[in-house]
Amino acid sequence: MIDYGGLQMGKYQQTFQEAINNPEGFWHKQANLLAWYDFPKNILTQEENGTYRWFKGGKLNTCYLAVDYHVEQGRGNQAALIYDSPVTNTKRHITFAELKEQVSHFAGVLKHLGVEKGDRVVIYMPMIPEAAVAMLACARLGAIHSVVFGGFAPHELAIRIDDAKPKVIVSASCGIEVQKVIPYKPMVDEAIKLCNHPPQATVIYKRPQVEPTLQAGRDHDWAELMSLADPVDPVIVDATDPLYILYTSGTTGKPKGVVRTNGDHAVAMKFSMNTVYNAQPGEVYWAASDVGWVVGHSYIVYAPLLQGCTSIIFEGKPVRTPDPGTFWRIMAEHKVNIFFTAPTAFRAIKKEDPDLKFKQPHDISSLKTLFLAGERLDPPTYEWLKSNLSVPVVDHWWQTETGWAIVCNPMGLEVFSPKSGSATKPTPGFQVEILDDEGNPTNPGESGSIAIKLPLPPGCLPTLWQDHERFKESYLKHYPGYYLTGDGGFIDEDGYVFVMGRIDDVINVAGHRLSTGEMEELIGAHWAVAECAVVGIHDDLKGQVPIGLVVLKDDAEIENEVMEKELVAMIRHEIGAVASFKHAVMVKRLPKTRSGKILRKTIRRMASETNVPVPATIDDPAILGEIQNTMESHKIGQYSGIK
Ligand code: COA
Ligand code: AMP
Repeated sequence: MIDYGGLQMGKYQQTFQEAINNPEGFWHKQANLLAWYDFPKNILTQEENGTYRWFKGGKLNTCYLAVDYHVEQGRGNQAALIYDSPVTNTKRHITFAELKEQVSHFAGVLKHLGVEKGDRVVIYMPMIPEAAVAMLACARLGAIHSVVFGGFAPHELAIRIDDAKPKVIVSASCGIEVQKVIPYKPMVDEAIKLCNHPPQATVIYKRPQVEPTLQAGRDHDWAELMSLADPVDPVIVDATDPLYILYTSGTTGKPKGVVRTNGDHAVAMKFSMNTVYNAQPGEVYWAASDVGWVVGHSYIVYAPLLQGCTSIIFEGKPVRTPDPGTFWRIMAEHKVNIFFTAPTAFRAIKKEDPDLKFKQPHDISSLKTLFLAGERLDPPTYEWLKSNLSVPVVDHWWQTETGWAIVCNPMGLEVFSPKSGSATKPTPGFQVEILDDEGNPTNPGESGSIAIKLPLPPGCLPTLWQDHERFKESYLKHYPGYYLTGDGGFIDEDGYVFVMGRIDDVINVAGHRLSTGEMEELIGAHWAVAECAVVGIHDDLKGQVPIGLVVLKDDAEIENEVMEKELVAMIRHEIGAVASFKHAVMVKRLPKTRSGKILRKTIRRMASETNVPVPATIDDPAILGEIQNTMESHKIGQYSGIK
């Protein structure tokens, strides 16, 4: 029997209704939990272009609230960050007082390099505490950080540099992937060469594994500048000033720059810690993700610190660093109260340690709740976790755009009996509806497009970085008055939301969001390729992996094996190894509708299902047989496990 820890029951409906019926009153109360310099004059306003804005007129500093505030409140000696790195055999505790020291000095470093309020700083770092220090230092100055996931290749980094036009790039000499040392500085150099808006300076954190080559005048050593820097006090910013840009995959080759603003973000983060996670100040919170993803922004750095929790920075993998017991070892050693990761991480553990032998030596009695997100929590993984753990296993659904859970089992309000395959109920503040193609709400149990009625609650994106038109086009135009999530699913008769997967060309590979459209653009540039389709197909470990179907130019002569090797190398070089693009096959034609649209969904289904219905709109049904034969001969569809 699961012990839910004496949580209050019956508060969900009341809270949900209050947030919908009186959003201003509701969020006013939540905003009151923060130490503003000036409390906002307006709670919710709408601008001329229709954008909703939360807390206009409010003045605050996110870094102050996450760091200095806790020192002032007597938490100076509490660990703010615990760095646990099995790949380097390092453990480090950083108290709130020490974090303040480091962050205020690194803000001094950035200031010395000319960074001011509103300037952008790109952060391309492995999972080391300095990544969080750099982010918080930007927030301290009112500068806008753009963290780029370390697994992205220089081409991806260059795209993000050109869009954000940063004054400075902060990086480290290397990252460590299990036993592989990956030098970062050459990738930064290559990205700077590729981009049109190079930064004026870089700051490189030297790790003992790699000595970076620094270009005099442009590249600076982190430690050297830190030893010279003066500390800087938090700069007062407006609630509506951007805190960060985080690029995420859309359906085209150009990633979307999701903007997060200071005031509503801080309020939402705090509210989520209380409501979604039931995380109390002083507790240990661990999100095993990466600062390069939204989970890392929200739940490795900002939310735990804003709440006065200790946050764990983990540099490793669920397996192989050194074994599938790492998660349990860290939970026991640091007395983790709340743990959050992606289902794929547990699928990796389950594969190597199905009976959880590696868990046995570890006392994880401190753990209150296990949270999962980033991709659908598949019922077999859920059942395995549920039967092996004595704490609630909570799925929750969200996106880079929202920054926090749209649907959850709200552990701080009321605990609902979970249903396998469902992320449970809409979080207070989110009005989730399922709409059909015409924009009409569907009946309970009927699938459709998941949309959120406007206004979105605090913490969600107000726009895309310098591209408000694309924001409207991507999210608001489809269903007027609603935000389009891009996911499909249904709500059952008890109000439980089931998220079944993306309805666009975005795929989810090991919890990493990637664009098949971008891969198609890159593959389309290969000399032999006339056209191609990239689809995500089921993979037992990673959830999905991309495969490419390629039609050659009439005069192109190339063996399938050679072409596949070249395309795999190309995607790895342009996007990064993280894309896990390993297979491309030649086909004579692609299945299309009569209007010429490639039937990607049909291809996807053919790779994982039998008896896939022939779409009524297909121009030539015979193509499907050809594709099926090609997939079978290349073992696509029995893909799982092939690396
Ligand atoms: N820097 C450089 N390379 C990176 C990287 C980084 N930060 N992150 C991943 N890569 C590389 C890996 O080394 C690997 O390269 P390879 O093809 O040469 O082996 C490739 O990208 C794929 O990495 P990954 O997706 O991590 O696959 P994996 O097989 O190494 O591990 C899992 C599989 C499931 C264990 C791993 O994906 C995992 O722990 N996932 C958790 C997901 C997560 O945290 N998601 C965030 C949302 S909550
Ligand atoms: P990202 O923006 O990288 O966080 O990816 C967001 C996407 O991941 C969502 O749009 C979903 O497709 C998927 N996703 C995240 N969490 C869940 C979940 N709990 N259940 C189902 N899908 C999820």
